[in-house]
Amino acid sequence: MYLLALLTVFGVAFAVPLTAPSTEVFSAPTEEERAAAYVLPRDTIPTFYDVRLTLNPDNEEYFTGAVDIRILPLIVTNQITLHAMAMNISAADIEVYAESAPTVNLFQSHTLATNDTHLFRITLNRNMTVLQPHTIRIKHYVGHYAENMFGVYVSTYTSGGTTHKLITSQLQPTFARRAFPCYDEPAIKAIFRTTIYSPPAYGVVRSNMPVRAQSLKPEIPGYAKHEFDDTLVMSTYLLAYLVSNLDYVDNAMDTPFKDLYRVSFRVYSRPDTQNTAMFALEFGQKNMVELEKYTEFEYEFPKLDKAAVPDFAAGAMENWGLVIYREVALLVTEGVTTTATKQNVGRIICHENVHQWFGNEVGPLSWTYTWLNEGFANFFENFATDMVVPEWRMMDQFVLALQNVFQSDAVLSVNPMTHPVYTPAEILGTFNAVAYQKSGSVIRMMQHFLTPEVFRKGLVTYIRNNTRDAASPLDLYASLQEALDASDHSIPYPLLDVMDRWVNQGGFPVLTVTRSASAGQSIVVEQVRYLTDNTLRSNDRWHVPINWVLSTNPDFSDTSPQNWIPPAFPARSFDIPGLSNASWYIINKQQTGYYRVNYDTRNWAALATALNNSHEVIHLLNRAQLIDDAFNLARNGRLGYEYAFRISSYLVKEKDYIPWGAANPAFTYLDTVLSSSSQYNLFQHYLLNLTAPLYKELGFDAADEEEHVTPYFRNIILDLNCRHGNPDCITKAQEKLEAFRTNPEQRLNPDIQTLVYCSGLRGGSAENFNFLWDMYLASQDSSEQSILLNAMGCTSNEERRTFYMNQVISETSPVREQDRHTILVSVTNAGPNSTEAALDFVIKNFAEIQPRVQGLTGTTNILNAFARRLTSEAHYKKIDEFFDLHQGIFTAGELASISGIRENIQASITWSKQNADVVESWLTDNYGSSSAPALVSSLIVLISIMVTIFNY
Ligand SMILES: *[C@@H]1O[C@H](CO)[C@@H](O)[C@H](O)[C@H]1NC(C)=O
Ligand SMILES: *[C@@H]1O[C@H](CO)[C@@H](O)[C@H](O)[C@H]1NC(C)=O
Ligand SMILES: *[C@@H]1O[C@H](CO)[C@@H](O)[C@H](O)[C@H]1NC(C)=O
Ligand SMILES: *[C@@H]1O[C@H](CO)[C@@H](O)[C@H](O)[C@H]1NC(C)=O
Ligand SMILES: *[C@@H]1O[C@H](CO)[C@@H](O)[C@H](O)[C@H]1NC(C)=O
Repeated sequence: MYLLALLTVFGVAFAVPLTAPSTEVFSAPTEEERAAAYVLPRDTIPTFYDVRLTLNPDNEEYFTGAVDIRILPLIVTNQITLHAMAMNISAADIEVYAESAPTVNLFQSHTLATNDTHLFRITLNRNMTVLQPHTIRIKHYVGHYAENMFGVYVSTYTSGGTTHKLITSQLQPTFARRAFPCYDEPAIKAIFRTTIYSPPAYGVVRSNMPVRAQSLKPEIPGYAKHEFDDTLVMSTYLLAYLVSNLDYVDNAMDTPFKDLYRVSFRVYSRPDTQNTAMFALEFGQKNMVELEKYTEFEYEFPKLDKAAVPDFAAGAMENWGLVIYREVALLVTEGVTTTATKQNVGRIICHENVHQWFGNEVGPLSWTYTWLNEGFANFFENFATDMVVPEWRMMDQFVLALQNVFQSDAVLSVNPMTHPVYTPAEILGTFNAVAYQKSGSVIRMMQHFLTPEVFRKGLVTYIRNNTRDAASPLDLYASLQEALDASDHSIPYPLLDVMDRWVNQGGFPVLTVTRSASAGQSIVVEQVRYLTDNTLRSNDRWHVPINWVLSTNPDFSDTSPQNWIPPAFPARSFDIPGLSNASWYIINKQQTGYYRVNYDTRNWAALATALNNSHEVIHLLNRAQLIDDAFNLARNGRLGYEYAFRISSYLVKEKDYIPWGAANPAFTYLDTVLSSSSQYNLFQHYLLNLTAPLYKELGFDAADEEEHVTPYFRNIILDLNCRHGNPDCITKAQEKLEAFRTNPEQRLNPDIQTLVYCSGLRGGSAENFNFLWDMYLASQDSSEQSILLNAMGCTSNEERRTFYMNQVISETSPVREQDRHTILVSVTNAGPNSTEAALDFVIKNFAEIQPRVQGLTGTTNILNAFARRLTSEAHYKKIDEFFDLHQGIFTAGELASISGIRENIQASITWSKQNADVVESWLTDNYGSSSAPALVSSLIVLISIMVTIFNY
């Protein structure tokens, strides 16, 4: 599963807060009790399911089904326990037979849990013999479409003025049990035979496998019958259904992308959007070819469908043979889709392709190991996109994602990668930044410390040896260790010992490195866990692989470890030959290790000098590392702010996007905490000064042949300039909007649309807002809708803003529920007044917002946006009020986000007390002179844009 919003989310990582802000005293059930209540007993296992579903999109009340499940008892028992959810099953429709006596019904009674265990228990009138096959026959049941898009559900779209319906599904992680009674755990795999009966008016009916050649099932009058071939052995969560009138392009058709891949490859989307499916058709096939080469393992299903549906909870879902996407995650309209969205489409297609091996061939033993699926998908969505489009520089961009996840992973309450989960809510909660970005980053570290070829060979074994089976991290380590032992490379510890701490402890270390004596060759390295709240302490330690570069030989290419910092010692010293001749040194080449590095101030000063003199000497990923580490270590009280600012002054010469991508979040943070400072205008001068040469160079208009990442770069620079009062920037943006309004045929470069629209709304013009709102209503293109939704929150017109926010809860809102959180996120990010308005709106209306902001991370996205913007005591009081008002209805994820907000507000208050003086005096010393550029009234310019949307 791919979650669209995760990359920018702060704080979803801690699904269950350690300090529950509740006053209720209750004793939480122990892990054993929860395991006993939620995990299937495994005294019977299924081998084969024959599922028949009657799905009629025109009857949204219910659907019906029937299922035969062939099972094997593993012990002598008269109990069968499986899952069923939101279903009506009557006793008269349940039968159980021993295969040896197919006429003797053994069924005696059944119970169906009404709580979240979803256990469906059948009691027989006699014991079953071990390993004697039996069949459970549910002749008829009534199921219910999921209103929240988890399960089987109905979706609609309009075309040519009429409304069309379709049925689709999202069964991961615990919703196959909503489709039919089943053993709904990832490790309990079986073969599935599916038949769908649906009205003949719905011509396109798909499931995991192709249509079966010979019919086995009877007809049902009035319905068309769609029988599919038996699947390979697979998990329940990977099943998928589609009943629709979608249209497709495929690799058998006469297009430039015919037969790029040996397997039938189709892209389904709404009729008349087939031109937008071409990118997916090309990229998806090329990517599958690369993945087969890398894994030395052929994709095993006879077809691979990719389907774009109008409503979808996640970004995409890797169902084996029938991958389902949100439209914005699969379709690309040239000239309308932004570079960032197109990159995301490539990345998401690759993510789901990777899952066909990591997840579908080899699945996790339980959702406790979600990272085995999502961590690899996250790593390879970059690594294997890079194989197809190296010019996108995905592995360079990876470092920005790593730096981003440091933020979520720097709280004490964060979950480790391996994290036991039992209830459906806990299981859903593991699909978070830890399982995705952190795990992907740790896997990247592993690739470098094992070396890329050992890593690849180990993964080839992991897939080959565990295919059609479920794996634990131990299986992964065994395969990698075997490859390591067979190679020339070695590491000083068993891989299991190294990974144990990275995987079973939350967080990550910061190394503090000091030269032991100015003329000596040795350094002292100390490791502690890095925590945003620096008053907290932890004894966690890791095996940390390190390597270094000296100024005397600035070669950053070999990323294998030169030494390790073991967990046993808080500090370790060792020699670095040649150190005494070096003016500076850097640890962690290309930031492949998942940790921060702090140095003695002499080295920081030398690094600042080196960067300001000739920054190209230092690898661009280490330039990004130095900026991100310096500003975060300063914020964390581990380094004087003046060093971070001295490092940053070199940016005036930096022409690569990646270091700017690292600097931008640091600036956003300072912007928030300094916004009420008396020296705020000096901070603005500083930003305009740093960006002045690039503002000139990049401008508003894209050059014909520019680098793939340049639009991201341009957006950072334009955003900083328009936001912080460069009058030229504001004027140009408004002229562009005016020109577009006058002549809408003349489309703007999509990459700058959000920025331009936003600037046009800042002045408060209701006409501009209405123009964009009308455009939204008229648009059928999901990427265009997304640009507009993100921009419209920028309006400073109170009446329009209220109108816009009301679209979240209005009965007649034209905005799809999956997209509604964007409205509140964009208002929250638009500037101080808008943040207040959004906060008041959410406090007042949360009970109505909650059920209407659908999708996986709807409400938490909104709350996480607040976490980045709220800073004051007054905000803290409002959050208390918010909490008291809606106590009873918060989910675990929402509670976690609220504690994240509180933690952040506290941190901002502390920051101001500890750092405001230093920062203000550095700004005064360096930018306090009269050479400051002229600023437009800061009233207009305070209103900011959510910059992250441009990056991801
Ligand atoms: C769920 O309901 C069953 C009875 O149907 C009960 O035995 C069990 O304790 C309940 N479990 C939880 C976790 O509430
Ligand atoms: C079924 O097996 C259990 C455990 O072996 C035993 O205690 C029970 O008496 C048996 N019941 C029947 C009806 O044979
Ligand atoms: C994988 O399978 C091969 C062949 O059966 C075997 O030689 C090898 O030891 C296995 N490796 C692991 C790590 O299980
Ligand atoms: C930026 O500041 C430096 C001094 O700190 C000054 O020399 C330079 O002229 C400034 N550049 C701009 C474009 O204001
Ligand atoms: C913010 O609100 C205050 C008070 O309502 C108003 O005076 C000010 O102009 C607003 N600022 C912006 C940027 O709209």
